[in-house]
Amino acid sequence: MTTVDPSPLPAALDAPDLGGLPADFTWGVATAAYQIEGAVAEGGRAPSIWDTFSHTLGKIAGGDTGDVACDHYHRWPEDIALMKRLGVDSYRLSIAWPRVHPQGDGPANEPGLAFYDRLVDALLEAGITPNVTLYHWDLPQALQDRGGWPARETAEHFAAYAGTVAARLGDRVGRWATLNEPLCSAWIGHLEGTMAPGLRDITAAVHASYHLLLGHGLAAQAVRAASPHAKIGIVNNLSTVHAASDSEADRAAARRMDGHTNRWWLDPVHGRGFPADMREVYGVDLPERPGDLDTIAQRLDWIGLNYYFPAVVADDPGAPHPHVRTVRREGVPRTGMDWEIEANGLEELLLRLTREYGARSIHVTENGSAFPDTVAPDGSVHDPERTAYLRDHLAACARAARAGAPVDGYYAWSLLDNFEWAYGYDKRFGLVHVDYPTQRRTMKTSGHTYARLIGGFRRTR
Ligand code: FCB
Repeated sequence: MTTVDPSPLPAALDAPDLGGLPADFTWGVATAAYQIEGAVAEGGRAPSIWDTFSHTLGKIAGGDTGDVACDHYHRWPEDIALMKRLGVDSYRLSIAWPRVHPQGDGPANEPGLAFYDRLVDALLEAGITPNVTLYHWDLPQALQDRGGWPARETAEHFAAYAGTVAARLGDRVGRWATLNEPLCSAWIGHLEGTMAPGLRDITAAVHASYHLLLGHGLAAQAVRAASPHAKIGIVNNLSTVHAASDSEADRAAARRMDGHTNRWWLDPVHGRGFPADMREVYGVDLPERPGDLDTIAQRLDWIGLNYYFPAVVADDPGAPHPHVRTVRREGVPRTGMDWEIEANGLEELLLRLTREYGARSIHVTENGSAFPDTVAPDGSVHDPERTAYLRDHLAACARAARAGAPVDGYYAWSLLDNFEWAYGYDKRFGLVHVDYPTQRRTMKTSGHTYARLIGGFRRTR
């Protein structure tokens, strides 16, 4: 039974122009394991670096942890039913490495694999195609204890884990992403210290970035070996970068920020090596071995783009690498994360991936906004700002498509409100509201709107 309001959108004023998107465009929603699953000690799962980090005093707003999260580990049938109500074609999920290889390496843990096995079967039965991300930040703590991403062995263990998962699911999963946002793992986790493992060390950060990308290449090989027809991509969060002023110093700061945020992650996987200007900025020798750059530059069947906000930066020699400071522009609308809203940025990045990197297939693997939602007395959750954000960014995708970008899919972040990392449960990104004490799920207006947009799109193709 569906409770999605079947009435048409209130006409041109609100409906985005989706012309230009391909007829077989993939409509999706995304989540990540640690943010929704809970059940952290069930089915043989061992702790990840996010269990350790979230249980460290003062790291997470409100002292929240992912221990229970959305209890998706037990409630996944209900969550698949929600996806059916939305009418999505595809679900982007991540696999928890510590469920599959609790110690990071060694024998696979059958109950962990069985969980994802059932989930994939149920998705397919519901007519929803899984898009599987192998690493969304939950490194087994055992591997962190042995050096984490700054150590080369972690990349090798990642490939072995990827091979295990592909051997088990590759007969039913066709689309894979190796890493989600390695930028966050490396820069926020090892340089800024506000994400797991919480380090502030430029050498560790650069080495982690290198081994993450090496791990991507090795994992791509391992997945292809286990499942030759797999379509493999990598998911990066990119930003458009604006200089805070016209001064030469700020424009140079913007180039550094672009290197740090975008080029460092895109150039190596496209066979261009690590950007020389940024190697100089970091001043850290890369742990290179012959052949690594070729390994990193595996053929990509698709590219994942997560887009949230633009960066506006000024030169700040005293700030940590890349020596910039974020500047607040007055009068620009912002989300509940205090992130600027600039839908044009999504269009620009899609075109940049096409023109500068020759992308042949791009999926927007995350895009969304947090606002402080409340449940009305009648039980509804009305979220006009998120709804507008969704429409404006979909319109940006279509503009990019009309200008020649191969935009093949869009995954709203997120299906559910969930554990928003260092912000805990306070920040709500879901199309579906979660009342954490009762775990009750309520479709928000944005969810109803998404369902109508998807339905309308299908009717016109
Ligand atoms: C991205 C993450 C995702 C979620 C969104 C809001 O950086 O990939 O897990 O937290 O931000």
